[in-house]
Amino acid sequence: MDPNLMVGLEKADDAGVYRLTDDLAIVQTVDFFTPIVDDPYDFGQIAVANALSDVYAMGGRPLTAMNIVCFPSQTMDISILRDILRGGIDKLREAGAVLVGGHSVEDAELKYGLSVTGTVHPKRVLTKSGARAGDSLILTKRIGSGIINTAIKGGLASKEAAAAVARSMATLNKAAAAVMLEVGANACTDITGFGLLGHACEMVEDGPVGLRLHSAAVPLFPETMEMVGMGLVPGGTRRNREFRAAMVVAPGISALVLDVLFDPQTSGGLFMAVDGQKAGLMLAGLKKAGVVDAAIVGEVIDHPAQRVLVD
Ligand code: CO
Ligand code: CO
Ligand code: CO
Repeated sequence: MDPNLMVGLEKADDAGVYRLTDDLAIVQTVDFFTPIVDDPYDFGQIAVANALSDVYAMGGRPLTAMNIVCFPSQTMDISILRDILRGGIDKLREAGAVLVGGHSVEDAELKYGLSVTGTVHPKRVLTKSGARAGDSLILTKRIGSGIINTAIKGGLASKEAAAAVARSMATLNKAAAAVMLEVGANACTDITGFGLLGHACEMVEDGPVGLRLHSAAVPLFPETMEMVGMGLVPGGTRRNREFRAAMVVAPGISALVLDVLFDPQTSGGLFMAVDGQKAGLMLAGLKKAGVVDAAIVGEVIDHPAQRVLVD
């Protein structure tokens, strides 16, 4: 064990944190995946927003990034890759981070993502644990992108719903993180593959507190309930539900609503625990910063610990 490793593998968080000096630590993360939208430029933007998100979730500021590319150059036009990388670079510029290199391999299936390095003050690292009873839970993006993306593949989602999801996935968590750091949060993570409830469970496992989530307060993309009612549920949802079955207490909550709350998200929002006294200030600050979908979706409770109650 290295004493400077502040956040590592033994208690996995959004990113690794390594202390360089008493007032400087680096935040490191890597993420890459197959295309989730048809437009290559949009895909590049989403991949960057998604990769940077783990740095923001730790309270860090992304500084440098490296491209990771798997590309089928025998069967796909190289202009597609150019558009993806252009989308990526534009999004990095928006974040104030710089591309320093990368690596590409030949692969049957296109994949793109990045490894990202950021910085954080060692005393200001935000982890998943740290939530206190009485905290409010704030979510900064809508839920349902997995369901809508499944509906898009089936040709069933409206243009409006598809556009709303694409815009949200390409939106950096930068503004939300800036407000979060200014007002102050006790814990934070970002909502990705495990869904809102899966990541909520991570916040309280092994800890002294539990969460209460108000399902009606969770902001959803348009048509989410309609599409989930048609059975348009991505493959990961069932796995997410089964994995956390013992931790989630949701009497009276329909299977459809649980499917939404376990819906795997790509480049989802920040999910933070904020002192109840500061929650109103945080929410107002988020809205003012353009994080218009931010909402208070529940609170941290002292009993039962290590459970997420859904009402
Ligand atoms: Co994360
Ligand atoms: Co990640
Ligand atoms: Co190389």
